[in-house]
Amino acid sequence: MSISKRVSLISPSPTLKISAKAKEMKLQGIDVISFSAGEPDFDTPVHIKEAAKKALDEGFTKYTPASGIRVLKEAICKKFREDNNLIFSPEEILISCGAKHSIFNAILSLCDEGDEVILPSPYWVSYPEMIKVAGGKPVILKTTEENNFKAKPEQLKEAITSKTKLFILNSPCNPTGTVYAKDELQLLSNILISSNVYCISDEIYEKIIYDGEEHVSIASLGEEIRQLTLAINGVSKSYSMTGWRVGYAAGAAKIISAMSNLQSHSTSNPTSISQMAALEALSGPQGQVTEMVGEFRKRRDFIVEKLNQIPGISCLKPKGAFYAFANVSGILEKEKVMKDSTSLAEKLLVEANVAVVPGAAFGDDNYIRFSYATSLKKIKEGVERIKKFLGKIL
Ligand SMILES: Cc1ncc(COP(=O)(O)O)c(C=O)c1O
Repeated sequence: MSISKRVSLISPSPTLKISAKAKEMKLQGIDVISFSAGEPDFDTPVHIKEAAKKALDEGFTKYTPASGIRVLKEAICKKFREDNNLIFSPEEILISCGAKHSIFNAILSLCDEGDEVILPSPYWVSYPEMIKVAGGKPVILKTTEENNFKAKPEQLKEAITSKTKLFILNSPCNPTGTVYAKDELQLLSNILISSNVYCISDEIYEKIIYDGEEHVSIASLGEEIRQLTLAINGVSKSYSMTGWRVGYAAGAAKIISAMSNLQSHSTSNPTSISQMAALEALSGPQGQVTEMVGEFRKRRDFIVEKLNQIPGISCLKPKGAFYAFANVSGILEKEKVMKDSTSLAEKLLVEANVAVVPGAAFGDDNYIRFSYATSLKKIKEGVERIKKFLGKIL
């Protein structure tokens, strides 16, 4: 049996690999502290679960239109209008089985064989693999800690060739927590417009933002960039609904229609019940989002302070999302056995029983990623274990 070239090119998700190994160790009775999860540890708010129960009881259990139900599209339009100052009509919205699915639909609908897709690193693990499946070529823009992990306009300009089709922007960013400011987005937008390059703006962490930072959607900076941008969002992270699988894309009707067509021949509609739950999430009370973000902020302050006290580790304070992206180059330089982020993550798991994700998965081997979507107690214990382990070997 031979697997298609298209699928053979994909690497397995390194995040899932570490989580699976940590789970296996837990099953063996080992007390593992995991910083690998990409999801909030809070339960889905009760009023959202009640909306799903109601949908179920009322028999809302059949196929819906493949691109999603009209009332939810209208609620999404309202959300964009109120939160992002963006006017979309329901024809410009596609509801998918998670934001991941919307992004995949977008890349497959825009990329032809050999098209170049510009992707700032560190990046979310799935982007390069999706680009490869679509036959595209990821062109990596390396960003650095010194520049707060932000792509510079001149870097973007230099990377654009006649084959460039798409630029992927992720603000707030997984794994770095970087949030782009309006004036920075304006400069990137001007370059995209002048070269007619499309933009996927992944805004899934929009609401998980700290220190008075403001989330700005690049699509809101003018009609020309709105026409080139697909704004991606969803309910997974903001409403602690990762398992419900509802995400959405907003953009020019022509692209949304192509993406809907593709989706109609793959998954069809996202789960009917989940769509009703997402409707409640977007239109119901928002108090729990604020509470969750408040809790994440406390954990962020704590983990960043503690990590910076460990010799060999340094960590910027992230402005958004729920990850701390820690620089471990000081350890890798000194320790011959753990010469890269993957071997360090493996050692931490096996010897200190702490699960983290190696930076290599995100395109930068000098870092490891901690998800602080776990209790303060566990964060304290996990960081202590790392400190003790490194203290012994360095
Ligand atoms: C940057 C980014 N985009 C998209 C997603 C996917 O979200 P969803 O659960 O809605 O598919 C994730 C999930 O980890 C993410 O980190």
